[in-house]
Amino acid sequence: MKLFRPLILFVAGLLVLHTAVAQKRTPVRPGAVRGVEYAIDSILAGLTLQEKIGQLVQYSGGWSTGPTGEQIINQEQRSLIRSGGTGSLLNVTGAAATRELQRIAVEESRARIPLIFGLDVIHGFKTTFPIPLAEAASWDPAAVELSARISATEAASAGIHWTFAPMVDIARDPRWGRIAEGSGEDTYLGSVMAAARVRGCQGTRLDDPMSLVACVKHYAAYGAAEGGRDYNTVDMSEQTLRDVYLPPFKAALDAGAGTFMASFNEINGVASSGSRFLMTKVLREEWKFDGFVVSDWGSIGELIPHGFAADPGQAAERAINAGVDMDMEARAYRDSLASLVKQKRVSVATIDESVRRVLRIKFRLGLFSDPYRGTSVERENRMLRHPSHIAAARTIARSSIVLLKNENSLLPLSLKAGAIAVIGPLAQNKRDPVGTWPGPTDTNNVVTVLEGIQEAAAGSLIMYARGCGIDDADTTGFATAVNVARKADVVVMVMGESNEMSGEACCRSFIGLPGNQLDLVKAVQATGTPIVLVLMNGRPLAISWEAANLPAIVESWHLGHETGHAIADVLFGTYAPTGRLPVTFPRVTGQVPLYYNHKNTGRPFNDTSHYTSRYLDIPSTPLYPFGYGLTYTTFGYSDLVIDAATLHPADSLRVRVTVRNTGTRDGDEVVQVYVRDDVGTLTRPVRELKAFKRVHLAAGASATVALAIPVSDLAYTGADMKRRVEPGTFTVFVGSNAAADLAAHCEVVAK
Ligand code: GLC
Repeated sequence: MKLFRPLILFVAGLLVLHTAVAQKRTPVRPGAVRGVEYAIDSILAGLTLQEKIGQLVQYSGGWSTGPTGEQIINQEQRSLIRSGGTGSLLNVTGAAATRELQRIAVEESRARIPLIFGLDVIHGFKTTFPIPLAEAASWDPAAVELSARISATEAASAGIHWTFAPMVDIARDPRWGRIAEGSGEDTYLGSVMAAARVRGCQGTRLDDPMSLVACVKHYAAYGAAEGGRDYNTVDMSEQTLRDVYLPPFKAALDAGAGTFMASFNEINGVASSGSRFLMTKVLREEWKFDGFVVSDWGSIGELIPHGFAADPGQAAERAINAGVDMDMEARAYRDSLASLVKQKRVSVATIDESVRRVLRIKFRLGLFSDPYRGTSVERENRMLRHPSHIAAARTIARSSIVLLKNENSLLPLSLKAGAIAVIGPLAQNKRDPVGTWPGPTDTNNVVTVLEGIQEAAAGSLIMYARGCGIDDADTTGFATAVNVARKADVVVMVMGESNEMSGEACCRSFIGLPGNQLDLVKAVQATGTPIVLVLMNGRPLAISWEAANLPAIVESWHLGHETGHAIADVLFGTYAPTGRLPVTFPRVTGQVPLYYNHKNTGRPFNDTSHYTSRYLDIPSTPLYPFGYGLTYTTFGYSDLVIDAATLHPADSLRVRVTVRNTGTRDGDEVVQVYVRDDVGTLTRPVRELKAFKRVHLAAGASATVALAIPVSDLAYTGADMKRRVEPGTFTVFVGSNAAADLAAHCEVVAK
């Protein structure tokens, strides 16, 4: 068989090539392409059980690097690959390292099956883009797709085939650190962004050497962890799971995502990484997914502490029989699958089906045609941090910035000579702006806020003082900061979180400014010099005092390499801010969870009647609502019209509204349409985002903006777990955020 294997692979590759050529455009998610399936049949027939198990085992490179940063390949990894002990590695990067390991796999192993190299390409590779939560604030799926595309091309040039992205977890609790990695609290916006990221990663052809296969994570409902504590228990109705948390996964799948990642958490007593409901019933039987599922790091082994498996053998048994195909770093499949097959607790057919799914994606990536996908050190060096990538990073960083407050139009700042004091622990900081998961990047290239301001306002006197740390009680820098503030015409304070205060296992019980930062803000505010507060953070912050006492607040998240340029562009008006919040900002931590599409309850909260759902000590409304964001002009809405007041299930809800730029500067508005199902067999949220559109209007201009929503998008999951649009009245709200009160009504009739 050894002699014929290369021949089989060669023929298989030709079959795939022929099929691909025959189909003018290889669908990103082709149905079962016959040539590939036949080729996989042949490969499976020739594999030993151990070699099959090897295809279901993923190891981390965990490599040491040499003096020039090159990855050093150790003998253990070489022999593991040579013996067919693994079919995938993560955390190995670089054309040289990946080519060498691939060469061992396809030339020195018996089965000669190509490796698939995975990496977390979450918001950039060598060019770091804004964190996903920031990019979601752009409300610009095309920009998000471009960001994902550039990140994919840089990573693919470095030998990566597979990214563990997009992270599509809906997050309603900002204490949860991984809210930074997703697209916020809303199912519709999250679904739009999930699909955009998959398109960016995978392009129009998975076998394009610049494409990566996406991995939709963390499946599922990982963002609903109790208390906002990472990895914690998730307990919710199946209706909520299906209507709030699953749609972004389905949107990613519909966009062609080739792989999924099982999550760490349990849902309703079933650990996701052993959930047959999630991995087989929903994903494969209902959604017809034909790619493969990888566990999260060690999550199969964690079925034991979950109390969902007694030992590694049972953990492996429950995971593989649930439909988790590949084991990332738990070594449970490596250690137990062979004996489970002998004990008939796992069938060979189950193993074969998982191997088939893995090989199918390897074929779709073109790895059987060219295991190296044309990588070379030369191309890698040419692609990484290409000037066009850096320019794109600046563009999307600018559009991710949200202007939260601008009293008396303090912003944009004049570029005329004047004295600007730049203060704060994040002002001259090259590490934290890259955010929670930047990839193997070089932070020396980060443009700091101070550098961006110095470059933009070259004619001004720019003074700098760090003032305080990010998260300590040291006040020794206060005096210098106060001193430069006294001498300035305006102060730009750059405050917020380090990049290690959000992301995995980085949850906070208090989401105000960390350390003694607020004390510094108050000390500088006491000088009387007006302050522009620039926030750098990976989650909503509870900034009630700041919002009440400072004239201008700019939410800049963690923006990546082009931080300083993007923020300066907005501060000086080169770019009028266009961002809108993808997540609600609470007044205080104690309000959390607080999200816009909540249920009305029998005593909806209001601040005038005591016996309603509210707190005694704070207003029950958010500090800033979902969808909120200002710019350097203002907009007015009028003449909201619904084309047909009576709708049938097959119709679309067609909305028209007049938007006017009522200010003195041109600007962008994101017109948002929310719908409420007034009465349901099950209670319905007070409103849900169903469409949005960005419009650019010159000062004083107006336009009629039209949006259409398929009536089918108004469906929800009933007690019978079936989705339906229930006949009845609906209220449509249109405006600039989730508190919009311009409303109209329509009715859906049964037939
Ligand atoms: C981590 C994360 C997951 C990531 C994986 C590989 O624990 O939960 O998002 O893709 O391990 O790094």
